[in-house]
Formats: sequence, structure tokens, C-alpha cells
Amino acid sequence: MRIPTTEDFAELESWGLVEDPMAAIADYSDERAERRWDNDRHCRAHREHAENQSEEFLADAQAYYRSMDRPIDRRKWAFLKRRKAWFHPPVEWGRFAATDASRILDLGCGDGDVTQRVAEFVAGRWTQTGYDGAPMEIVGVDLNESRVRNARKLAESPHEKITLTFEQADATDRLDYGEDFFDYALLNGVFEVLDDENFEAVRDEVSRVTAIGLYVRDLLDDYEGLHPRPDLPDSLADRGFETVARHKIFEEPFAEEGTTDPLAVWPMNVHQVLFAEASDVSSLADRY
Ligand SMILES: C[S@@+](CC[C@H](N)C(=O)[O-])C[C@H]1O[C@@H](n2cnc3c(N)ncnc32)[C@H](O)[C@@H]1O
Repeated sequence: MRIPTTEDFAELESWGLVEDPMAAIADYSDERAERRWDNDRHCRAHREHAENQSEEFLADAQAYYRSMDRPIDRRKWAFLKRRKAWFHPPVEWGRFAATDASRILDLGCGDGDVTQRVAEFVAGRWTQTGYDGAPMEIVGVDLNESRVRNARKLAESPHEKITLTFEQADATDRLDYGEDFFDYALLNGVFEVLDDENFEAVRDEVSRVTAIGLYVRDLLDDYEGLHPRPDLPDSLADRGFETVARHKIFEEPFAEEGTTDPLAVWPMNVHQVLFAEASDVSSLADRY
């Protein structure tokens, strides 16, 4: 990926996310998903994406993420933050800004750009509603030390009452937080990189530390080494989280010609975005 220019940023503006942050939901249809395969640009990007998957990742994805060293340029980080907004629509994020929310976990937070967007969403919603805010901790956790370093360097709290922190930890293991410590957790592109054994371990751990709700964005297309889970709502229901909203979306706006991303970062993959709510939320009223 080259360093994005001012024109590249301007091109993303044309996706209309400022006017409608949920635009990806209406843009998707199963019929369009079929039509992607008539498109040379998409097919080539899909093939290249599959072929470029690193040998280390395919051999052992957890070892790959544990040892990868990948500093990121500030401009690329800022571009990806906006670019990813398309396929991370803020489904049910209004709950994060409600008066009863005070701790949010971004598990597998990568470079912290989506974490930053969550913080900005909360601060923005507080301002819109004339609420002064209350102390809120947003914590990003990732297996990869270099991504945690990137996040610490680049992410910045947008509001004096919001604390943004980043920690290195392995979520297949026990995380250093008590039961129901967080109100909400997000997992963006995390389950998709986990085999079934690690998926179950991470699902169980995030269910243990989260009291109210889970937001998940996860790939649905097939790629070697990745793990699409169309039955994810059933797996979350097994741990007491009922899916209350679910959408299929493209990774970028659908276009007959294949992509409108000026940097052509990814193919037009299909993802699921869901929000799942704990079935026993009412019993948690006195947990602080
Ligand atoms: C595809 S990236 C997504 C990053 C980020 N959530 C985003 O949306 O840009 C998957 C992330 O999951 C992290 N990860 C993988 N296994 C993990 C584990 N066992 N515990 C914590 N993080 C993990 C990786 O280090 C990587 O940053």
C-alpha cells in the first residue's frame, strides 16, 4: 500500500459515510455478491489476496501474529481508519454512548484505528445529545506487540472523560480482567483468523469478561487459512449472547467495475456484522 494522498482521502468522502455511516448495509445484496464474480478486477484482487497470504500465517496464524513486526505510517493509519469505516458500520454503537456504559473492550484491536473510531463515535454522540460524559475506559487488547505499540503511538482520546489504553495479551488464554468487567466488546476480523479450537477459547473468554453486548465484524468469504462462520450467532448463543442485529456487507461500496477504493487495498469481500446481547443483562444491575 502506497502513502495515501489528499486526493485518496477525498475519494473516500464520496462513499457518503459522513451522511450515512450505515451505508454499507443498504449497498449489499446477495444478487450483487453473485455479480462480483463477473468482474475481472474483483476476481484478480481475490486471487492476488489469496496468493499473497504469507507462508508463516498459513503454517500457524497465532505464531504469525505473535511475532509479526509491522510499524505503520501515520497517514496510512488515518486512511485505513476511514477506509474501514465502510465495513464497520456502527450497528448498535449508540449503546456505547449511553449513561450506563463505562468500559469497552476492542479485542484483537490491531493498530487501534477502529478503537479510535469507537472513541470518536462515543464522544460525538455525547456532544450531539448535550451530555457531558462520564469516565469511560476503552481498552484495546492484541496478541501482537508491534500493533499495540502502533496503537499507543497513534490513537488519542478525543474527550477528557475517555481513557484509551492498549495492552498486549493472548485472548486464547485467560485475560487479566474479572467476570463482566466490560460492558461491551468488539471483535473485528478476529474470529476469522482463528481455527476452531482457538475460536472457542476466545469466544469463551470474551463472553466471560463482557456483561452486556458483543459487536462482531467477520469475513464470510472463503480463503485458505481463514475461517468464515455463517453459524456464528449459534456459537454466541451457546455462551448466552443472542444476536439482535445482523447484516451482510461488502468490504467497500459495490461497483460494477470492481473497486472505488483509490488504493485498492482489498477485494470486494463479503462480511457479516452483528450485535449480540447477553440474555441475563437484567441480573447485572448491581455489578459495580
Ligand atoms: C485481521 S486483524 C484485525 C485487526 C483490527 N481488529 C482491525 O479491524 O483492523 C486480526 C487481529 O487479531 C489479533 N489476534 C489474533 N489472535 C489473537 C489472540 N489470540 N489474542 C488477541 N489478539 C489476537 C491479531 O494480532 C490481529 O491484530
